[in-house]
Amino acid sequence: MPATLPKKSILLIGASRGLGYAMAAEYLKHGWNVVGTVRGSARTLLHDLAEKSGSRVEIESVDIVEPDQIAALRARLTGRTFDVLFVNAGVTNNPKETIAEVTTEEFVRVMVTNALSPMRVVEALHDLVAPTGVLGVMSSGQGSVSNNTMGMREVYRGSKAALNTFMRSFAARHSADPRAMVLMAPGWVRTEMGGPEGRLSVEESIPNLVKVLLSLHGTPGLQYLDYLGRTVPW
Ligand SMILES: NC(=O)c1ccc[n+]([C@@H]2O[C@H](COP(=O)([O-])OP(=O)(O)OC[C@H]3O[C@@H](n4cnc5c(N)ncnc54)[C@H](OP(=O)(O)O)[C@@H]3O)[C@@H](O)[C@H]2O)c1
Repeated sequence: MPATLPKKSILLIGASRGLGYAMAAEYLKHGWNVVGTVRGSARTLLHDLAEKSGSRVEIESVDIVEPDQIAALRARLTGRTFDVLFVNAGVTNNPKETIAEVTTEEFVRVMVTNALSPMRVVEALHDLVAPTGVLGVMSSGQGSVSNNTMGMREVYRGSKAALNTFMRSFAARHSADPRAMVLMAPGWVRTEMGGPEGRLSVEESIPNLVKVLLSLHGTPGLQYLDYLGRTVPW
């Protein structure tokens, strides 16, 4: 009888609800094990998924804007190896608020959560990912500088464009890294963040987005891709 292959595993940061939760469920469908993170001690959808999935979902905790919590997570995971690290966590703000109107406090909140903190997670945890693995971060089509012809969502756009640039710097610093790196644009999806007007259902976005991630193993270098695997112009 052939030996059973060890299951692949993803470390998914920000998996309590929305797109991150859907990614956890989708990776399970592909037979993977999931370590998903939540914030705080409240029960989340991920807890329900963990209960239904035997021991295939492990729940960890991290608030990515707290560097001590990232360091503690890294310490708890020492000795583990993952096939994917994916940082999904992110926030938005009032889409109509322009850069002229935003308070400094709100600007800092969005920038720190969406640009600085995901990179702190990548910097702290990337060494847990196998050489054949994928380092992914949830960006947005709104992070494209070239495609910004409509305005709106100015602060959010700025935060994702900054995230993209920081990830490019990381990739440049790790140019000999055999791992695939990717900034994902999931499309405008009907979640709490995306709202009811979103163009896509979670089911239209996430199974495709996960297919794209699965196709990236063994392709080193950074790409900025949408949920159908199409390159997004920087
Ligand atoms: N929905 C869209 O149309 C869309 C489009 C493009 C890009 N995106 C990006 O996709 C990602 C997920 O979006 P979504 O629509 O699923 O949003 P969502 O429903 O609002 O979920 C946001 C997720 O991020 C987590 N999170 C927020 N701040 C965090 C922090 N400081 N530390 C740890 N976790 C944190 C939340 O955890 P809690 O439950 O603890 O709050 C939640 O799991 C975001 O990065 C977003 O910018 C979304």
